Amino acid sequence: MQGNKRPETMERITNEALAQAFIEEQVAELREQIGDKKVLLALSGGVDSSVTAALLIKAVGRQLVCVHVNHGLLRKGEPEQVIKVFREELGANLIYVDAVDRFLDKLAGVSDPETKRKIIGKEFIDVFAEEAAKLEGIKFLGQGTIYPDILESEQGVKAHHNVGGLPPELDFELVEPVKLLYKDEVRVVGKALGLPDSMVFRQPFPGPGLGVRCVGAITRDRLEALREADAIVREEIGKLPETPWQYFCAIPDIRSTGIKYTDGKGERYMGWAVIIRAVNTVDAVTATVPEIPFTTLCTMRDKIVKIPGVNRVLWDISEKPVATIEWE
Ligand code: XMP
Repeated sequence: MQGNKRPETMERITNEALAQAFIEEQVAELREQIGDKKVLLALSGGVDSSVTAALLIKAVGRQLVCVHVNHGLLRKGEPEQVIKVFREELGANLIYVDAVDRFLDKLAGVSDPETKRKIIGKEFIDVFAEEAAKLEGIKFLGQGTIYPDILESEQGVKAHHNVGGLPPELDFELVEPVKLLYKDEVRVVGKALGLPDSMVFRQPFPGPGLGVRCVGAITRDRLEALREADAIVREEIGKLPETPWQYFCAIPDIRSTGIKYTDGKGERYMGWAVIIRAVNTVDAVTATVPEIPFTTLCTMRDKIVKIPGVNRVLWDISEKPVATIEWE
C-alpha cells in the first residue's frame, strides 16, 4: 500500500492519459486491499469525496456504500446532483439522509460562529455514525484525503481526517486513494472518470456550508433567501470569461427599509440585504477582490431583489486581510 509520502519520481498528473494510468493502478490496488469487504464513504459532493467515490465505484462497485447527509446548508441543487450523478449515472449504493430538520433545530437561536461550526461538525459525525451502525460488514472507511491535507496535518495545521471523531466502536481501516494527489490532479482524474465539470471544477465550499453565510442565528426563511441568491450569483458570475476563485453571498441578520408597491400604492417594510462577495486568492491566506462588470452586478441585483424578503443588494469589496473571506 502507498505510504504517506509522495515519491519524488511521481509524475504530475496533467492529462487524460496519465489520469487513466493512475486510475488503472488504483483500481487494481483497491481491489487487492478491499477484497470482498465493504467500504463506507461520506459523500459531500465536493471534488475530493466525489473523485474518491467514483474511483471506489470503479474498483468495487456496490461494495462501496456512500452516505450523503443533507444538513440543510447545501447550495441549491446540490443534493439532487449527488443523487443524479452517483445513484442514477454511476449506479452507486447511495444512502441519502435528510437531516435538515435535525441540523436546523440544533442551530436555532445560536448566533456565535464557532459554536455554529461545532454544532454542525458534531451533528454530522453523529448522523454518519448512526448510519454506519445500521450497516453490517463494513470493514473500511473511504476518505477523500488529498496531499495538502497530509502536509498540513504533518505541520500540525489541521487534522487530516475528514470524518475525525468517529466513535471507537466504528473501528474502520482507512482507504484513501487520492491521498498523494494535489488538487489539480484530483480534478484531472475526476474528469477522466467521467464526473461532470460542475462537480470537478466546483469552487471551494466550506464544510459548514451556507451556515456560515447566513450570519448570526440561522432562520429557515433567511436561509432559503440566501440559497436562492447564491444560485443567482453562481449563475451570473459563472458566465464571465474568467471566474473568480470563490464567489457567493452572505445575508446578515439585519433588516433595512424598503418599499413595496401594491395597486400603485407604496408601503414601507423591513427586508434583508444580500451581500455579494467574490475573491481571488492562491492559498486563501490573503485574498483580493476582482472587478465584476457593472452590468453583471445589475443583473444579479434585479434578480436578487425578487426573492421574497430581500430589498437590498450590496457588493463587498473588502480584501483579506483585513476582512476574512467568509462573513463568519
Ligand atoms: P476565511 O473566511 O477564513 O476563509 O478567510 C478561507 C477559506 O476557507 C473556507 N472556510 C472554511 N472551510 N470549514 C471549511 O471547510 C470552515 O469552517 C471554513 N471557514 C472558512 C472559506 O470558504 C475560504 O475558502
